[in-house]
Amino acid sequence: MASCSIIQYLLLGVMLARIRQCVTSQVYVVYMGSSSDHSEEVLKQNHQMLTSVHGGSNDKARASHVYSYSNGFRGFAAKLTQEQALEIAEMPGVVSVFPNEKRSLHTTHSWDFMGLSVDEEMEIPGFSTKNQENVIIGFLDTGIWPESPSFNDHGMPPVPTRWKGRCQTGESFTTTDCNKKVIGARYYLNGYEAEHGEFSINSDNALKYKSPRDSSGHGSHTASTAAGRYVKNMNFNGLASGEARGGASMARVAVYKACWDSGCYDADILSAFNDAIRDGVDIISVSLGPTSPQGDYFSDAISIGSFHATSHGILVVSSAGNVGTRGSVTNLAPWMLTVAASSTDRDFASYIVLGNGTKLMGESLNSFGMNRSARTIPAEEASGGYFTPYQSSFCLESSLNKTKARGKILICRHSGSSSESRVAKSVVVKKAGGVGMILIDEVENDVAIPFVIPAASVGRGIADKILSYVNHTRNSKSLILPAKAILGSRPAPRMAAFSSKGPNSLTPEILKPDITAPGLNILAAWSPAVKRMNVNILSGTSMSCPHITGIAALIKAAYPSWSPSAIKSAIMTTATMFDKSGHAITADPTGRRATPFDYGSGFPNPLSVIDPGLIYDAQPSDYKTFLCSIGYDDKSLHLVTGDNSTCTKVAAAASDLNYPTITVPNLRGSYSVSRTVTNVGRPRIIYRAVVSPPAGIQVNVVPGILVFRNYGEKKNFTVIFRATAPAKDYVFGSLTWKAKTLEVTSPLVVRLASSNKGLL
Ligand SMILES: *[C@@H]1O[C@H](CO)[C@@H](O)[C@H](O)[C@H]1NC(C)=O
Ligand SMILES: *[C@@H]1O[C@H](CO)[C@@H](O)[C@H](O)[C@H]1NC(C)=O
Ligand SMILES: *[C@@H]1O[C@H](CO)[C@@H](O)[C@H](O)[C@H]1NC(C)=O
Ligand SMILES: *[C@@H]1O[C@H](CO)[C@@H](O)[C@H](O)[C@H]1NC(C)=O
Ligand SMILES: *[C@@H]1O[C@H](CO)[C@@H](O)[C@H](O)[C@H]1NC(C)=O
Ligand SMILES: *[C@@H]1O[C@H](CO)[C@@H](O)[C@H](O)[C@H]1NC(C)=O
Repeated sequence: MASCSIIQYLLLGVMLARIRQCVTSQVYVVYMGSSSDHSEEVLKQNHQMLTSVHGGSNDKARASHVYSYSNGFRGFAAKLTQEQALEIAEMPGVVSVFPNEKRSLHTTHSWDFMGLSVDEEMEIPGFSTKNQENVIIGFLDTGIWPESPSFNDHGMPPVPTRWKGRCQTGESFTTTDCNKKVIGARYYLNGYEAEHGEFSINSDNALKYKSPRDSSGHGSHTASTAAGRYVKNMNFNGLASGEARGGASMARVAVYKACWDSGCYDADILSAFNDAIRDGVDIISVSLGPTSPQGDYFSDAISIGSFHATSHGILVVSSAGNVGTRGSVTNLAPWMLTVAASSTDRDFASYIVLGNGTKLMGESLNSFGMNRSARTIPAEEASGGYFTPYQSSFCLESSLNKTKARGKILICRHSGSSSESRVAKSVVVKKAGGVGMILIDEVENDVAIPFVIPAASVGRGIADKILSYVNHTRNSKSLILPAKAILGSRPAPRMAAFSSKGPNSLTPEILKPDITAPGLNILAAWSPAVKRMNVNILSGTSMSCPHITGIAALIKAAYPSWSPSAIKSAIMTTATMFDKSGHAITADPTGRRATPFDYGSGFPNPLSVIDPGLIYDAQPSDYKTFLCSIGYDDKSLHLVTGDNSTCTKVAAAASDLNYPTITVPNLRGSYSVSRTVTNVGRPRIIYRAVVSPPAGIQVNVVPGILVFRNYGEKKNFTVIFRATAPAKDYVFGSLTWKAKTLEVTSPLVVRLASSNKGLL
């Protein structure tokens, strides 16, 4: 596929589909919008379309077919040449045709296996979330390790009768591997095989099970974080011990294994959504995403699948990505709940004692340290072979000279690139005879790693101190101590350096990410197929996403009739922008003050999500209006939604989608945004608007007081922004509706239009 170039062409006026220019055929996803579930008819029509591009050959049509989709949305995946793909793109009813691209799991280091941390338990006093046994969460991931104690069904009532899913058997997976906890399990291989050739059991350890069984660990980790049962005595290397449980420990788990060793293919992802919608899940958790920058909403399998899931009342929770740079956030659609990653208050400290007595904090998950100090040198001084000292400073494979490295502690660098494994560097140092490693982690500081020799990672600040000591000391030495779990040593939560950030590159009027949750050094269940571990610590927005999934399941348990956007609103408007010590949340690695581009609405407060007071609700029709506002016309809208909705509303702006955050990316003079809130608290209650305006922006809320007399009553209000001082970049503030004990907060995000930045 290396010879394929990507061309872009315009389909139906607004929709971009990307088609690779290839001589040979490959898998394309043909997306045809909403469907009303006549699977027989859909299959027949798909076959006709394929037959027509295969010169009338039924056999060729059948051979090229990969999947058909008919639950909630229509389409199919098939092996096509570029010409055939273009031909199908012109056919009536086709919204987009896009190649079967690979999506990545949003874990920073799936091969960097880590130790143990126990997450905050999510109890909500005063509210019954017992009904969570009726909440079904679908996990689109790498499958499940059903024997993990996190998935035992002891004491769980029978499977809800409405459940229509199945327990698909396969290699090392029988129907008895599903139980009252793991109520469904399926796997999707066609899209993967179309790219990699037929599944071979011997090919790769990570692809071991042709079944819903988890051979990578990722799927078991995310599922147990959201919905794992209470497990006592989780203990890893004696480093830390305690209990672990998921957010909604009685909720049901439905497994959709669409991700394999090399990633998750669009055709498989859509097939998983297709089944999940029909099976009857309530929430879908997707800890994966497209590479940044993300393409158009309707040529991205996750956006498409979640659009139709949302239209069926299913909340889709997704990860923001681990790229860390400004504007890198993915899973941008407003119908998804997109989660950033932050720290907990637990650090895995591995102290480094310099020869001059100074003790500095590094991090690792090593239960072993050193008995005596050793000579400490920068790795470039142990450069060997054909490697330059610069290359050796990264401790790359074979880059070290054994004579120079033996018996020493080497100071190695990590550039932050996701292809560089931190564990592998410790292996390189060990092979060269080194006795320890100090890893300078240039971006992702704070991700704790179980190295193979005594080692600790440090951020730039501490690295400078160590280098300065080493530079100025003739016989520089240090000693690395074993890691200890320490609580509360630093402000928490802090935003993880790797967490992908706003603004939204596709629709800047919609703030993304939406929320943050713990995603740094998270303990959960693991697949013993890898490294024989039952539990593991991982970092990534993959890990923060299921924390929000768990909270969403508790809300769904308390309010089964709430829409996906109501649940999302409850989580977002009750979140806090302050850390546990009451200071503004900061962002690693520099400790700068974080903004809504880092954390969206902030860090959730599980104690208030069940009692949000007001919600910003949105129905499928509101998302249609939103699509009109970003350029979809009646025809393209009709294709996507399959109904008769039209773009009649004049001048609807994307900023006016009833979203729990407010973003004005191009303010000229003054601009008004409207919102509607629904009272879900006490029937008779009065709210007052309290604004913390963004710097240089005047904000008026009209009316400033909302008086409710009934439960479910809706009130409109308008927020008027006016620039009063020039500003070069985005500025941030907030709007809070306050009643006696309730606070309903939305971040305000504003940027002046370029003509406005200097002069007003
Ligand atoms: C340090 O000492 C302990 C106890 O004497 C021993 O078990 C361990 O192997 C030693 N570690 C190293 C790296 O020499
Ligand atoms: C390693 O360094 C030693 C000492 O400087 C040198 O004698 C030796 O040739 C080097 N070995 C390699 C493989 O570069
Ligand atoms: C240490 O010395 C190296 C070169 O020898 C230099 O690049 C580096 O900036 C120095 N670091 C500190 C902290 O002094
Ligand atoms: C040890 O060296 C570091 C780096 O040069 C310096 O910051 C520190 O103050 C020194 N400690 C002592 C006790 O001299
Ligand atoms: C759309 O409108 C047409 C004509 O008014 C009608 O026949 C058709 O049933 C409508 N379709 C839907 C899905 O409402
Ligand atoms: C609020 O706004 C919506 C849409 O703009 C409108 O349909 C509705 O009538 C308004 N409600 C009230 C109470 O003004």
